[in-house]
Amino acid sequence: MTPILLQAHQVSVRYGAYQALRDVSLHVRAGEFISVVGPNGAGKTTLVNVLTGWLKPTGGSVSFQGSDIAGIGPVELAKRGMARSFQLVNIFPELTVGETLSVAVVSRLQRTRNPFRSLSNDTEVRAEVERVANILGLKAKLQTVAAHLSQGEKKLLDIASAIALNPEVILFDEPTSGISTADKHGIMKILVDAAREAGVRAIVQIEHDMDLVANYSDRIIALQEGAILADMRPAEFFADPAMISAVVGTKPPAHIKS
Ligand SMILES: Nc1ncnc2c1ncn2[C@@H]1O[C@H](COP(=O)(O)OP(=O)(O)OP(=O)(O)O)[C@@H](O)[C@H]1O
Ligand SMILES: [Mg+2]
Repeated sequence: MTPILLQAHQVSVRYGAYQALRDVSLHVRAGEFISVVGPNGAGKTTLVNVLTGWLKPTGGSVSFQGSDIAGIGPVELAKRGMARSFQLVNIFPELTVGETLSVAVVSRLQRTRNPFRSLSNDTEVRAEVERVANILGLKAKLQTVAAHLSQGEKKLLDIASAIALNPEVILFDEPTSGISTADKHGIMKILVDAAREAGVRAIVQIEHDMDLVANYSDRIIALQEGAILADMRPAEFFADPAMISAVVGTKPPAHIKS
């Protein structure tokens, strides 16, 4: 078995009186592509927030490569080798694609100076920005401000920013949301290829599109009302109509007995 990179042990999260996660335990191994699925409000984003140290759980623990990461925040997270994307695209609309990627590259290179100063002289940063843009198919857009990108390109820029941090593990919160069904597969393929090329060792994604989940996942973790309903391989998951209906929020077709 490959090593466990990321692990949650009996994690609970309360928002005031509301319990968003209860006793969630899971692990992510090197080499895995995991999809987190579940209906709206099931706690998926909350789980990613906890797994990436953005949110400190009210109970339980989260460890990455053996050390506790509860509530460490984004800067420390990147240093340790984890990156994430957001459900709502998290880019600065007034920055160009090149500038956006430079921020990630510079932070990774742990430069202390202002990332926008004398950047054009910095061949190392520029080469790295071009390399990442190239992997994500954004090279022709390096001078374009993010506000002018198409929805799909914005998603790719968000993904590129995570990959530019050179992480070992990336967590994507709905990387294809807001993208037409026809284009979702293209984005997912670019994402997977880019992550592989960048040496990413494991991917966790939240995804509503069951086609993509079935095609790309090594393992599926289903959440329902803040608890783990299933943690299984796609073949097992999709063989169970009750599981699918619990996740997509519809009843199984009448002719299928559950
Ligand atoms: N900061 C917060 N304060 C209070 N309640 C919250 C907060 N964040 C999330 N919640 C609640 O916790 C529950 C889980 O939210 P979460 O965003 O994790 O769901 P989700 O599975 O990502 O849903 P979606 O598929 O719609 O993105 C929801 O009922 C939500 O209203
Ligand atoms: Mg969410």
